[in-house]
Amino acid sequence: MLAHIQDIVKEAQKGGYAVGAYNVHNLETVLGVARAAMKAKSPAIIQVSESAIKYMGLKPVTHIVSTVAKNVAAPVPIALHLDHGKTFNTVFECIDAGFTSVHIDASYLPLDENIKLTKQVVELAHLKKVWVQGEVGAMVGGHGEVGKKRIDIPKAKLAEVIDFVKQTKVDSIAAAIGTAHGVFVNEDVDLELLYEIKKVVKIPFVLHGGSGIADAKIKKAIKQGVNIINIGTDIKVAFSQTLIATCLHNKKETDPRVLLTPSIQAVEDVVVAKMKLFGSAGRVNFGDIKT
Ligand code: G3H
Ligand code: ZN
Repeated sequence: MLAHIQDIVKEAQKGGYAVGAYNVHNLETVLGVARAAMKAKSPAIIQVSESAIKYMGLKPVTHIVSTVAKNVAAPVPIALHLDHGKTFNTVFECIDAGFTSVHIDASYLPLDENIKLTKQVVELAHLKKVWVQGEVGAMVGGHGEVGKKRIDIPKAKLAEVIDFVKQTKVDSIAAAIGTAHGVFVNEDVDLELLYEIKKVVKIPFVLHGGSGIADAKIKKAIKQGVNIINIGTDIKVAFSQTLIATCLHNKKETDPRVLLTPSIQAVEDVVVAKMKLFGSAGRVNFGDIKT
């Protein structure tokens, strides 16, 4: 059974830690995250982007995540979330498929249109008890991009974030605060902007672009009230670099399982490290759970 994201995030708010929202791309990355959650005794959010859904199919990915959660990681709460849904249709297909949380990312639109679309999504999603994440100030970069320097990392305007949350009634908020999708030497968390946002906006703050940020900064951001941290690129890099190395060392191997198993392990290792860093590790007491 998949957990509702609301229950996972409420515990994180109470405990003053963050839960990772990990982007998955195939069965192997789902297994890596679920095994990590078991090993670290940590809750986890598994999230899929529109392109991941296009690659796997909505029904297959929904079934893979719920079946793996139930059979590989039953004692730990795992929620399924749509990441950067750009349209009303995508969001509602995911809600129909059983997602308990969706991200409507209309940050590519002018603010008033972003507010209008996000409001429509919130009104309908709430009828189905689904959580909605909204976004102000578009994130730059791309999942999996690894670059030296990114000159344009725009930031959201404080007044716009406050107005957006008030008008849309979203359950969680993502806003550009200095990080980018991918790994870049000059991305950083603007702790002052985060502080100003959190002073007024009390709903959970979602830090996008979690890969490539120094551990010390991540810890400070969590102290200032970040409850969800998105990790995409670090998973892609761990999976793919391990796969490339495994294939190069086993050029005659014909069994995909032999070639893919080290990549599952690499994802598990990266995610366990994130769970420890975010403070979500050790939060599930297996002794309290009847399996
Ligand atoms: O939406 C997903 C995240 O924001 C991923 O960012 O690739 O920098 O970890 P990242
Ligand atoms: Zn993102």
